[in-house]
Amino acid sequence: MSKEIFETSNERETFNLGRQFAKRLKNGDIVAIYGDLGAGKTEFVKGICDYFNVDDIVTSPTFTIMNHYTSEKSDKPVSIYHIDLYRLKTEKEIEDIGFDECLVSRDCIKIIEWAEKANGMLPEKRYNVYIRQDENSDTHRFIEIEEK
Ligand SMILES: Nc1ncnc2c1ncn2[C@@H]1O[C@H](COP(=O)(O)OP(=O)(O)OP(=O)(O)O)[C@@H](O)[C@H]1O
Ligand SMILES: [Mg+2]
Repeated sequence: MSKEIFETSNERETFNLGRQFAKRLKNGDIVAIYGDLGAGKTEFVKGICDYFNVDDIVTSPTFTIMNHYTSEKSDKPVSIYHIDLYRLKTEKEIEDIGFDECLVSRDCIKIIEWAEKANGMLPEKRYNVYIRQDENSDTHRFIEIEEK
């Protein structure tokens, strides 16, 4: 297990941190992202997708729950599931979107916003990304990346 703590001062830096972090990802990996509304979770995910040259991520998936992106353009072709659990209330609802099946798939990277909603369902082996807002600043963020 390893833990690193970063700080970002604007949206671009969070995007770049996601981009940097993506270098260590491979198909099969799970990334659980935690943080309040507007913390910067999707910004971080956009950075990951940018690293893999996925260009069809344009908005937060908050209204779609599960998005699937593929990219052949990078050196490492990947398939990415970007899941946003914000609007789901119970584990039953989460199961109903096919979450379990998606999690066990070895041939895609799974990135989960509002991961706390599915904490009991996530395998121990995963990356956790915690994004915390600074109460004294609108744009400062503390970002902890934990590898289990
Ligand atoms: N340091 C920062 N890192 C990331 N975003 C920042 C930062 N400073 C300001 N912002 C702003 O905060 C917002 C983050 O939005 P984003 O959609 O990434 O949040 P989110 O955590 O995905 O929220 P939601 O829970 O609604 O999905 C953006 O409007 C962005 O411009
Ligand atoms: Mg979001």
